[in-house]
Order: sequence, then C-alpha cells, then structure tokens
Amino acid sequence: MVKLAPSILASNFARLESHVREAITAGADWIHIDVMDGHFVPNITIGPLIVEALRPLSKETGALLDVHLMIEEPDRYLEDFVQAGADIVTVHVETCHHLHRTIQRIKELGAKAGVTLNPSTSLTTLEQILPDVDLVLIMSVNPGFGGQKYIPSSTVKIRRLRRMLDSIESKAWLEVDGGVHAGNAAEVVQAGADVLVAGSAVFGGKNSVAENVSALRKAIH
Ligand code: DX5
Ligand code: ZN
Repeated sequence: MVKLAPSILASNFARLESHVREAITAGADWIHIDVMDGHFVPNITIGPLIVEALRPLSKETGALLDVHLMIEEPDRYLEDFVQAGADIVTVHVETCHHLHRTIQRIKELGAKAGVTLNPSTSLTTLEQILPDVDLVLIMSVNPGFGGQKYIPSSTVKIRRLRRMLDSIESKAWLEVDGGVHAGNAAEVVQAGADVLVAGSAVFGGKNSVAENVSALRKAIH
C-alpha cells in the first residue's frame, strides 16, 4: 500500500491542526514537515515547535511525523526534533560531513533515519549508506519551495534507486517529494516509490482536501 504524506508547507498555518486533520481523515498516512533554514535552501520555514504542536494529532491518529531537514549542520538539531516528536528524520547528503555518524545518531535518539539528495546529486553518493537507512527520499524539485514542477528525469532516478534497494534486499521506504499530483502519481509509483509527498496537490487548489486526497489515491490504484 502506497503511503501519502501531505506536506504541511502548503497548508493554512492559521488553522494548522484542523487542516492537517482533514487530510488524515481523508486517508493520508503521514505528516510531512519541511524544515528550511535560509542557508541550505533560500527559504525559512519552521522548527521543532511546530512538530511539537502536531504531536497530539499524530499520537491520536497514528500518522507519523515525517521531518525533512533542509538545514546546514543538521546534527545540531537532531535531538530537538526527536524530542519534539519526529518519528522519521531525513537529512540531506549535501549537508552531512559524516553521514554515517548522523544516521546512527538519529537511530540512537529513537527515530527512523532517512537520507535525501538534491536533483543534481548522484545516487552513487548513497551507495555506502543504503544498508543503514530506513528511508530514502528522492527530491523531484530543487528543495526550498512548494508548488514547483516535477523534474521529469526524477522518474529514471526513482527506478534506479528501486533497483539499488532491491539488490541489497533493503526494506527502506522510497519516498518522492516535489511536484507530485494526481496527474503524475501513477508514474512515480510505477517507477518504485512507496511514499508520496504532496503539498499543493493536497492543500492547494479549489477542491477540498478530501477530494484532493481521494484524487491522488485513485490515481495510484
Ligand atoms: C520542497 C519540499 C516539499 C514541498 C512539496 O523543498 O521539500 O516537501 O513542500 O510541495 P509540492 O507538493 O507543492 O511540490
Ligand atoms: Zn519535503
């Protein structure tokens, strides 16, 4: 079963809890939280306080808090995010000098450890760490903003990563993030994704969140 992880970046922050609740009630599985620092990426978003604010909803519904760190020196903040309630913490390979150490640290803190990479970064940078991670996230846009267009070459990258994971019999989730919508979700899943992040396709547009979630579900069945 493919998981849907709505990105709260596209949600209405003035009524964050109820907006995210709508998505979960409609069948979303995880809550994707985009943390940006204005250094690694040009945008500034949110910190551990928002993770903490969503924790009761996550506990009540069983929706995992999937935290995507787009920040320099992520090691400085791992503990804060896990203490705030992050179930999964994903770091960018481009921000980690000692990726293996960072991944082990996330696990020691009690969370699932994910790794991700920019569209221009090669999958070969992950080869060595693959057996140690619980999740690999393919960025299908340049990180920094919601509402961008899916980069078409991402599909080949997803397919290659799926082969790499299968060849080592890894059970890690393969998540895809950026520009995913009902029109391309099937292609992304067919290439091997088992978790889809969607921001604008869930919280944006003129249809309700419930309609958006069911359109995505329908597209991948
Ligand atoms: C981009 C973020 C994404 C983004 C997805 O840096 O990592 O999670 O919010 O938004 P959409 O689905 O609108 O591309
Ligand atoms: Zn993200």
